[in-house]
Amino acid sequence: MNTLPSSAEGLPGPEQATAEEVAASVVAAAVWAPSVHNTQPWWFSTRGQEISLYADASRQLMVADPGGREMMISCGAALFTARLALRSLGYIPDACVLPDPAQRLLVARVSWQRRADPAEYERQLFRWVRQRRTHRGGFAPLPLAPELLTVLQHGAEQDGALLRVIAGEGRRAALAAVVETAERAMRLNAAYVQELTRWVSTPGSTRADGVPDTAYPARPERTDPYFPGRDFAHGRGWGLPSFSFGVASRSAGVVCLLTTAGDRPKDWVNAGQALQRVLLTSATCGVAAALHSQPLELPWLREYICAHWSNGTYPQLLLRLGTVVQATASVRRPPASVLSSSGREPPGAGHE
Ligand SMILES: Cc1cc2nc3c(=O)[nH]c(=O)nc-3n(C[C@H](O)[C@H](O)[C@H](O)COP(=O)(O)O)c2cc1C
Repeated sequence: MNTLPSSAEGLPGPEQATAEEVAASVVAAAVWAPSVHNTQPWWFSTRGQEISLYADASRQLMVADPGGREMMISCGAALFTARLALRSLGYIPDACVLPDPAQRLLVARVSWQRRADPAEYERQLFRWVRQRRTHRGGFAPLPLAPELLTVLQHGAEQDGALLRVIAGEGRRAALAAVVETAERAMRLNAAYVQELTRWVSTPGSTRADGVPDTAYPARPERTDPYFPGRDFAHGRGWGLPSFSFGVASRSAGVVCLLTTAGDRPKDWVNAGQALQRVLLTSATCGVAAALHSQPLELPWLREYICAHWSNGTYPQLLLRLGTVVQATASVRRPPASVLSSSGREPPGAGHE
């Protein structure tokens, strides 16, 4: 019998676990995927040894993401996590992405029949599913191991995406300026501000979605070059005490663009799978990621990045990778509220 990893303790061994128990365990892990503004735009339905993953359009950002690109990236990250959870239980997942053109919100069907022990790297990735956090600020001025970047790039390719490292001070600084332009434009746009505000939790809130004040610094941390973060607090002084303890400017880290050859929903789901693989692999090496999607939410800036930084491939997310000490905290909805066995939307689907 396969040995279950510690994260799946409490479940019977794979040979005795019922399909419902396996599905519950997989969804409990998948909800820890990253999602834009922590919208968690997904729900799951299970039947026998199969889970269907749906995008929850009621959680789509209609101002920032009218085409649903970031919603699908988020669902792709949940799909990768579900596949990894099955591997950690000793199953070989069979995933079919966007299996039914008539159901555009059906992101994937994942089934499990065959068995194989998880590899050590799969166990390690899985251990970071719940612990990994998005970083928002600067990094220690330490270089990343070149081998790690190679592993991340190969990993992204396995999921149908490209991880392009933006090298050279001039190119990094120019890309930072594009992020700053986007952030400035968004702060002046009432519709963007209102939408972001709806997904930011007030301090002490028991809300299980959105961005809590434990997830970002109260004062923006300057990096060199400066990649401004989202304005979650909007002048209300919310957030964690400074991350950098008086250091005037910290490293921006290794700047990367996650891109895809095409720009259709399938490419977005692939980008999400690649994103989660990159984030978890980095985490196993003590490396955190800051994510910036501001310029990619403005079509004119996305086109500009496409033309100047991604060699014609489609930019899906901008990441900065580096080492940090301080950990932020996040929240998730209970897995039972997003899982149904009837094929209908569970009670937690839809806006809370
Ligand atoms: C498509 C996508 C876009 C994101 N864009 C940003 C961003 O622009 N700024 C940011 O701080 N975090 C961004 N994030 C990270 C989410 O805010 C984060 O995943 C979510 O709040 C959950 O927190 P966690 O990753 O720490 O678990 C993005 C995540 C995804 C999947």
